[in-house]
Amino acid sequence: MPGGRRRTLARAKIAVLISGRGSNMAALLYASRAADCPYEIVLVASNDPEAQGLHLAAAEGIPTFAYPHKGMERTVHDALMHAEISKAGAEYVALAGYMRLLSPEFVNRWAGRMLNIHPSLLPKYKGLHTHERALEAGDSHAGCSVHIVTPALDDGKVLGHIRVAILPGDTPEALAARVLIAEHQLYPRVLAAFVSRATPQPPAGVPNDAA
Ligand code: GRF
Repeated sequence: MPGGRRRTLARAKIAVLISGRGSNMAALLYASRAADCPYEIVLVASNDPEAQGLHLAAAEGIPTFAYPHKGMERTVHDALMHAEISKAGAEYVALAGYMRLLSPEFVNRWAGRMLNIHPSLLPKYKGLHTHERALEAGDSHAGCSVHIVTPALDDGKVLGHIRVAILPGDTPEALAARVLIAEHQLYPRVLAAFVSRATPQPPAGVPNDAA
């Protein structure tokens, strides 16, 4: 058609789950502002209404949802989160510092469509205190990994990682701060590649006949 209007490809819809600071959520969000980013964030949800990242998401115009898990059965809380995520139209879930174990029911509902970022070179150091453990072991490198979420903790297929050199005199805090920089690079890149592979795309530059 005259003017060369092109079909706007639908971007994959992502719900991000956080429990705190939300710096990885922010990295995903700001990466999504690029015109060619294949995903958009449609919801930021938390199990902690005080999570700092919720304020940033709201200020950036992203719908948010929070519901405290205290006193609730895991499956009931997960079902609530699932309902909100589905209502938002999300096709994928990105866990970004979500400090709550998820029920097998929830994980199975999102099987193959839920990613997590973990601050170690998986399969090393699953769980907590990854930087302390890397330092105690005398490792030359720490790092971060993005993986598919399965019912076992930090166990699913690793989709990408970045190695981060450990420096003489590193403290867990200093190392964590450097690994976080790598996390912010890794997560948007891996998520973008993941949804691009998973979402069928028409060939680039297909004219929009319907317009
Ligand atoms: C990150 O280190 C992430 O790898 C881990 O939890 C931390 C969350 O930090 N799963 P933030 O809330 O994204 O700043």
